[in-house]
Amino acid sequence: MISATELDAQDPLAGFRDRFVHNSSEPGLIYLDGNSLGRQPLAVADVVARVVDREWGDRLIRGWNEGWLEIADGVGDLIGEVLGARPGEVTLAENTSVCLYKAVVAALRERSPRQKVLTDDANFPSDIQILRSACRSAGSGQRVEVVETSATADPTAVLLDAIDESTAVVSLSHVAYRSGWRWDLKAVNRAARRAGALVVWDFSHSVGAIPIHVAAEGVDIAVGCTYKYLNGGPGAPAFIYVSSQQKGLSNPISGWFGSQKPFDFDHQSPPAKGIQRFLTGTPHVVSAALVQPGIELLLEAGMPRVYEKSVMLTERFIDLCDKKLAKFGFEIVTPLDPESRGSHVAVSHPEAQAVCLALLNEQSVIPDFRPPDLLRFGFAPLYISFADVDSTVKRIVDVVEGGGIDRWKDKTPLVP
Ligand SMILES: Cc1ncc(COP(=O)(O)O)c(C=O)c1O
Repeated sequence: MISATELDAQDPLAGFRDRFVHNSSEPGLIYLDGNSLGRQPLAVADVVARVVDREWGDRLIRGWNEGWLEIADGVGDLIGEVLGARPGEVTLAENTSVCLYKAVVAALRERSPRQKVLTDDANFPSDIQILRSACRSAGSGQRVEVVETSATADPTAVLLDAIDESTAVVSLSHVAYRSGWRWDLKAVNRAARRAGALVVWDFSHSVGAIPIHVAAEGVDIAVGCTYKYLNGGPGAPAFIYVSSQQKGLSNPISGWFGSQKPFDFDHQSPPAKGIQRFLTGTPHVVSAALVQPGIELLLEAGMPRVYEKSVMLTERFIDLCDKKLAKFGFEIVTPLDPESRGSHVAVSHPEAQAVCLALLNEQSVIPDFRPPDLLRFGFAPLYISFADVDSTVKRIVDVVEGGGIDRWKDKTPLVP
């Protein structure tokens, strides 16, 4: 196996690590939870100074005419570049849950009287709750069918088999939050289109880590978080993408910012024509501004290089787990084929929670734990090194051999 030092020396993205904030009082920290909350780009400090101090502090309400009105669309277009979308197809709004609700109700109304919303049991639980509430709101007997894919060797076959002429909407997480399983966008979109259904994707666990080309891959509608691999900050607004060809989709929560002329204060203002029609109320100016630096870093690095490194990091970790951790009862849950996974690796262990707590409290490694037995290790290519991968595996061995599991076995779990 080629040494981590050699790989880091050859890594074209190595310099990006220093473009993020690293707490100097924790120099050895290995942060493997960028699939939940990405690191803070250094450039965020300048954005705070500009937006908070100068624009809000000095310019006050005049800020709306000096860039705030366009901020959701401007940052949306940058995300559009990451997604391979055209300008004007992506905007920022609320959070993923609300954006998903809007997208699914819009799609259900457009595909009425079809009744079935198809998803799978590996989807994020909040997404499934939202699908159910979208069905209730659509109000003509629509229902959610949850296909069981997590226990099968061929999720694609199981899912595609369930798409039929009663399917209005298929809604999936591109990369599954637990296992890291990745759907083939083209295959699902093609099957849904053939059956006359619309697909609403949740790109939360793929955007910024996996190359996506919405136009080339036939994606009609997608939503996603900006606080994971886009490094937009805690609670950052989500994005919504609607292909410009889907002109018949309308926002079920129409409000002034989604109308053509919000400042006419008209009770009947018609909806905006572009993606702006999916806005509702006032954009989250400050948090939208903080999303920009992370996206600019990704665009500067280039998604092909980011993805290439993601595959190398996850491959190395899987390999080392196999060689050094399998004998202690650790099992890789994530697909071994890189085309079928995202940028995190899920590993099961009967004492996963204790291992996680020991890593956090004794080893300066931050992964996360998902009950009942899963550890997730997120490899954000812009700031994780190959040395981090090797060191993480070594520290897991140290936990097991050093009695860490016994020390943390009955301790209170952490959230998240
Ligand atoms: C796949 C996925 N979808 C949706 C969400 C929820 O996003 P939000 O809380 O921004 O609505 C998450 C949160 O982690 C997620 O992982």
